[in-house]
Amino acid sequence: METTKKTHWENVYQTKNPDEVSWTQENPKTSLALIHSFKLNKQARIIDVGGGDSRLVDYLLEEGYENISVLDISEKALEKAKNRLGAKASKVTWIVSDVVDFKPETTYDIWHDRAAFHFLTSEEQIAQYLKIVSKNV
Ligand SMILES: C[S@@+](CC[C@H](N)C(=O)[O-])C[C@H]1O[C@@H](n2cnc3c(N)ncnc32)[C@H](O)[C@@H]1O
Repeated sequence: METTKKTHWENVYQTKNPDEVSWTQENPKTSLALIHSFKLNKQARIIDVGGGDSRLVDYLLEEGYENISVLDISEKALEKAKNRLGAKASKVTWIVSDVVDFKPETTYDIWHDRAAFHFLTSEEQIAQYLKIVSKNV
């Protein structure tokens, strides 16, 4: 894993609260609408890639989804999400990984990525990301 990339994101989540970053959404309604549009059952396997401490997972749990994973390069981001969720966090699979190093152990019905993909800036990393998605969704 590239250290500088991880260090950057760990630093962001160590030093900034959700109200101090531009991407925070109190209610991720566009993402939820997209997920609902697939009309999948509550056992659908959903992964939020680069989920950070987004509240999408809170809403999905509230709606009764049972197989949610959240992946992020930043351990601190996931720790913040877990702390917010309390006991409910145990219902989620948390994965700390650079997405390009991710070796999924399952396939997913929905691969959600809001504002993480565009941080991959080399052709090689983009190709690797697309390879992982096409094999595992
Ligand atoms: C702009 S934030 C968006 C967070 C969240 N998706 C949301 O909508 O609130 C980008 C997120 O992508 C994560 N990220 C960036 N590069 C990543 C990578 N290569 N692998 C995994 N996560 C990454 C960051 O740690 C951060 O949480």
